[in-house]
Amino acid sequence: MRLKDKVALVTGAGSGIGRAIAIEFASEGASVLIAELNEEMGAAVADEIGERAAFTHCDTSSEEDVQAAIASAEERFGGLDIIVNNAGVSQKDWDTTIAVNLSGVYYGCKYGAEKLAATGGGSVINLSSILGLVGIGAEDPYVAAKHGVVGLTKNFAIAYGSRNVRVNCINPGWIETPMTAPIREVEALNSQLQTQTPMGRYGKPEEIAKAALFLASDDSSYMTGASLVIDGGWTAR
Ligand SMILES: NC(=O)c1ccc[n+]([C@@H]2O[C@H](COP(=O)([O-])OP(=O)(O)OC[C@H]3O[C@@H](n4cnc5c(N)ncnc54)[C@H](O)[C@@H]3O)[C@@H](O)[C@H]2O)c1
Repeated sequence: MRLKDKVALVTGAGSGIGRAIAIEFASEGASVLIAELNEEMGAAVADEIGERAAFTHCDTSSEEDVQAAIASAEERFGGLDIIVNNAGVSQKDWDTTIAVNLSGVYYGCKYGAEKLAATGGGSVINLSSILGLVGIGAEDPYVAAKHGVVGLTKNFAIAYGSRNVRVNCINPGWIETPMTAPIREVEALNSQLQTQTPMGRYGKPEEIAKAALFLASDDSSYMTGASLVIDGGWTAR
């Protein structure tokens, strides 16, 4: 049990990578607050996990919602040790994408890191992307937001390093989740992405959740400000 008696807040945990992280953390002994925009999906994941999980409605593009979710984790579970700023959208307009994928992560870092510091420390994990490290000549707002997440991760790591709060990000490659379903349905794109990936396949949400577990646990106790790339070799080309 690597997260025994810990409390985690995972945004966007009603689907895909966030869902897998919530399930992984709970299986390692954590209590998990699912902070999700889609009530049906969020509540379903909380039900699936059982008594060690709870759902709260949260739109991470709202500063007030993120603050309320952080307060709610404390109220329900008596503390907060881990925050995963995972909620994200793709193929949306500039304002929506920046609001969720960049401002949402900023609010989670700003209020989350401060809360963790005030209660003895903890771990903040941000979901960036391989598109936070390289461009693809398309999806401008997504690429800009994900590069911004890498910058925020470094800044908050520096600001909170001395207060026992570690801040890292994960940069997944192409993962099999509802977010990539529209891409995977186009045969030409589907085979192109797999061919471009040295391991020749998509990643699974559970393979990202294992990295999140590492970053959440004491196994990564000297790691902060880092980008953990999990992409089947895509950026090695
Ligand atoms: N799937 C991939 O290939 C991939 C690759 C790199 C990075 N990522 C990143 O990983 C994260 C999770 O992606 P996923 O593939 O699991 O996507 P997904 O679409 O399966 O899940 C995203 C979840 O976020 C929720 N959400 C959306 N907007 C929200 C908001 N404003 N407030 C709260 N919740 C909101 C959705 O309802 C959904 O449950 C995202 O930040 C994404 O950009 C995904």
